[in-house]
Amino acid sequence: MGQDKAAHYDLQYQKENYFGYREWLYDRYIAGLIDVSGLNPGATVLDVGCGQGFFSYLFSKHGMVAHGIDISEVGIRAAQRTYGHRGVSFSVADIASNNLLRQFDCVFARGLSLYNRPDFSDNIEVTKSLLRLVKPTGVLMFLYYSNCSSKRSDSWRYHSWSELQSHFRQFQGARFYFSFKIDTFLFGRYAFTKLGTQINMLMSKVTRKGGDLICLVNKSPAGS
Ligand SMILES: C[S@@+](CC[C@H](N)C(=O)[O-])C[C@H]1O[C@@H](n2cnc3c(N)ncnc32)[C@H](O)[C@@H]1O
Repeated sequence: MGQDKAAHYDLQYQKENYFGYREWLYDRYIAGLIDVSGLNPGATVLDVGCGQGFFSYLFSKHGMVAHGIDISEVGIRAAQRTYGHRGVSFSVADIASNNLLRQFDCVFARGLSLYNRPDFSDNIEVTKSLLRLVKPTGVLMFLYYSNCSSKRSDSWRYHSWSELQSHFRQFQGARFYFSFKIDTFLFGRYAFTKLGTQINMLMSKVTRKGGDLICLVNKSPAGS
């Protein structure tokens, strides 16, 4: 299964910037998440399933010490080639094998394939294992592209808002948001509010445009 997934992404990541990320759009998005999570310059970040390393780079650009891991060797090679000289480190690793011994101020997982599963709302094993890698005062950032208006896609399951809440309900103080990214370009960290999320979800239903489901979990006894 892991090998199939790695082979799948190895093929995709042969294309430079496979997901077509634009720095101007995502820069403010990551800055807002850093701000709202209270991460300070010098904080350590583990980007799990970093792909071609774009988000690891953005954390580094904002003063964090970022390390990206992925099962795709092609992805990691691209990440090293593109961002390695900018102070970001990367390694090929499978988070499921769980052999990372150190903890981080922030574990960042955006679109991690292990969450792309139909039993997402009840199966919290991956989240528990990621939280073990978070320092006692640190934060887990979960981000997952979804389309609130439809669940149809052959390869990507669009989780719903209620499934997101159900998945994280046992983690004390979990904060939930839905973002189009452009909202953070306009409003910065203030996009990460209840009102901003409600407006975005309404817009998503009307326009059928997707965005990121987000949950920020500060480490707590329930999650450790
Ligand atoms: C949809 S991509 C997201 C990539 C990146 N985080 C982003 O937002 O653009 C999913 C990534 O998860 C990686 N992945 C899947 N299973 C993994 C595992 N067990 N350990 C580490 N990375 C994994 C895949 O190789 C792929 O790069």
